[in-house]
Amino acid sequence: MELQPKSWVESYTQIERLVLPADTNVFNALYGGRLMEWIDNVASIVAFKHCRQGTVTGSIDSLFFLAPIHLGYIVNMKGRVNFTTKTTMEIEVDVSAQDAMTGKERFTTKAYLTYVAVDVDGKPSPVPGLKLNDDESKARFKSGEERSIRRIELLKSVKKEAQIFDEVH
Ligand SMILES: CC(C)(COP(=O)(O)OP(=O)(O)OC[C@H]1O[C@@H](n2cnc3c(N)ncnc32)[C@H](O)[C@@H]1OP(=O)(O)O)[C@@H](O)C(=O)NCCC(=O)NCCS
Repeated sequence: MELQPKSWVESYTQIERLVLPADTNVFNALYGGRLMEWIDNVASIVAFKHCRQGTVTGSIDSLFFLAPIHLGYIVNMKGRVNFTTKTTMEIEVDVSAQDAMTGKERFTTKAYLTYVAVDVDGKPSPVPGLKLNDDESKARFKSGEERSIRRIELLKSVKKEAQIFDEVH
């Protein structure tokens, strides 16, 4: 059965978190690892909503930390699907941080993650395509496709390296 394409709107996810002392480093700023976990969580929700089946994180091929986020700030994460292949979804997460006292907000982080849908045996499984209803969706799909070409090239060389490692161990 052919899967019906879906709009990015159906899986768009926005989550907010308050930065607490347990989330910070010695500079009173949010740990990079904690933010990565939150970003992966947002993107996983987007992936589930888009394909409504099991998914795994395949790769995080870009994660730009542009500005630190400090203790007591409100972190706002927005995730959306940009691009799909037969079994994968590229999800972009944009992060901004708001000073809880003044409301002033700053764009801090951008990530592109790829999720692979999997069946009960953990094997890649088809996902719905994306409806491209507007110019922005079309532009995002095109740039997602360009990143995908680079990602697949890199994946090939990483898989080769893994194969060599596995052969000698
Ligand atoms: C991701 C995984 C299911 C892919 O399995 P595989 O047998 O190597 O998949 P294939 O080579 O048949 O590729 C299937 C598709 O996934 C893509 N893909 C495979 N591995 C990928 C990766 N690491 N990153 C991004 N895309 C990947 C391929 O390009 C292909 O895309 P297509 O839809 O255009 O065909 C497997 O490598 C895996 O289970 N990895 C571990 C995942 C994990 O533990 N994540 C962290 C916790 S959630």
